[in-house]
Amino acid sequence: MQDSRAAAPIAYFEEMQSAEVVNSRMGADIPPRLHQVMTSIVNHLHAAIKEIEPTHEEWLAAIQFLTSTGQMCNDWRQEYILLSDILGVSMLVDAINHRRPSGATPNTILGPFYVADAPHYEHGRSICLDGKGEPLVVKGQVLGVDGQPIPGAQIEVWQTNDDGFYDVQQQGIQPESNLRGIFTADDGGGYWFKSVKPRHYPIPDDGPVGKLLRAMGRHPNRASHLHFIVSAPGYETVITHIFAPDCQYLPDDTVFGVKKELIADFDKVEDLKQAQALGLSTPFWRVNWNFCLAPAKAAA
Ligand code: BEZ
Ligand code: FE
Repeated sequence: MQDSRAAAPIAYFEEMQSAEVVNSRMGADIPPRLHQVMTSIVNHLHAAIKEIEPTHEEWLAAIQFLTSTGQMCNDWRQEYILLSDILGVSMLVDAINHRRPSGATPNTILGPFYVADAPHYEHGRSICLDGKGEPLVVKGQVLGVDGQPIPGAQIEVWQTNDDGFYDVQQQGIQPESNLRGIFTADDGGGYWFKSVKPRHYPIPDDGPVGKLLRAMGRHPNRASHLHFIVSAPGYETVITHIFAPDCQYLPDDTVFGVKKELIADFDKVEDLKQAQALGLSTPFWRVNWNFCLAPAKAAA
């Protein structure tokens, strides 16, 4: 990357040197990180424009797209984050900031449907309050990368209902806090809860980002998943998913959220005795899933 901090401003615009002209105007005393970021963005933006050579009409269409993306944003709809998600930028920023030791559960994006203050439940409780969907039991342990159980770890889960919507997308239709809950790991690091098998669903696609996806020949669907945040004092908090292995959208999840290590085995159980012992009907689905936390990084 070229550092133009000490360079004298280049007075007049030149097509060949366009990025250098712009970057040479930056003040000498601005914060170094801002200088680095703006230099890089100007360099890459000018390089892209030189490669694309847009017509005026194309450039105005791009501006109009950004304008309508901004106009779509409100307190709960963040169209710019959605844009970052479908371009793979959210997952890239997440990956850069969560490089973990081998064996640790990988991080993924949080998504827009996380809600703080979900209800705390005892183990074995069902988070499904609307009675729709195929029963699922999720059971496992929270461990350190050294394999030691982490008693008291907090496991927070949320997912869509069987119609493919989060409770917050259907207020007044779904029960409040449907399909979300917080569990606390027992003395052996264990947890378990009941839910329903997740299904694929489209991200909100009624705005400019949905239009862009369609224009690019892409679908809006997320592969079937449950979301988790797992935390414990002294460990790095993990924001993650587990994915159902039979979902058709695993290879092309629209926000690039799938990581190989996060695809779980969903076992279909037909055994009546096992179902009765859990208070379920047959068939039901069973997932055994351990979370593995990395030690917290020492404060800088
Ligand atoms: C989600 O999984 O909830 C989600 C993630 C990114 C964009 C939209 C939805
Ligand atoms: Fe989701």
